[in-house]
Amino acid sequence: MTNGRLHETLGAPMPRSLHVDEFNHDEDAVGYDLDVQNEADPVRAGYEELLTWMAGESHVTEESTVLELGSGTGNLTARLRPAREIVCVDVSKAMMRIAQHKLGARNDVRWVESDLLEFFDEPGTMLDVVVSSYAIHHLTAPERATLLAHLAVRMNPGGSVIVGDLMFESLSARREILLRYGQTGRKELVEGIEEEFFWDLETDLAVLRELGFEVDVRRFSELSWGLSGRSP
Ligand SMILES: C[S@@+](CC[C@H](N)C(=O)[O-])C[C@H]1O[C@@H](n2cnc3c(N)ncnc32)[C@H](O)[C@@H]1O
Repeated sequence: MTNGRLHETLGAPMPRSLHVDEFNHDEDAVGYDLDVQNEADPVRAGYEELLTWMAGESHVTEESTVLELGSGTGNLTARLRPAREIVCVDVSKAMMRIAQHKLGARNDVRWVESDLLEFFDEPGTMLDVVVSSYAIHHLTAPERATLLAHLAVRMNPGGSVIVGDLMFESLSARREILLRYGQTGRKELVEGIEEEFFWDLETDLAVLRELGFEVDVRRFSELSWGLSGRSP
């Protein structure tokens, strides 16, 4: 999508994302925090280290207006320094209830139960920091580009977009990794990955750069990557 076409999507009403009901984590909420500790699972490997890096990289201060997309049980939120406001968006009531319990003492957090795309239907305040861990891969690639275009117009100059998520470096890396998992008897893992929309770094970095972000990339495991973007 060209820059012009990315921006054309901004005027249109935002539909709910296509797979939101499928990826609402209500059913997974109870076991989630235990599950993410399983470093032997390629989808979970690097989780703790990535979230800690993201919190540092976000440079949140008491003056910051922060948006967290897909905040889940609040594991990243809990690592963020106090802010003017942290708006946490997630579609799952059950995940949010756990997060609210963990973060009950924080009065800088506001909870919004919404689909990630629909959230941008309403005009909102300008943002200094956007963070999102392991959530945006639940959007299709075109939905992801639309979401990033919305972020670009909501960022204050010099604002940060810090993403940690499941990604492949390129389509050929994706083929090689999935083939290897399949050949080593991890058929269920391959099927699980194929049902989701892991970032394709080559394409998604091009989108971010077209939108004017300067982006640094860091790898935390075979599948977990961190992006640190700075808006113009
Ligand atoms: C894998 S969890 C990640 C949670 C948390 N950020 C973390 O790092 O542990 C993905 C979260 O995104 C939420 N989610 C998935 N698709 C969504 C959508 N379209 N809109 C809003 N939330 C969504 C799920 O309910 C879930 O809480």
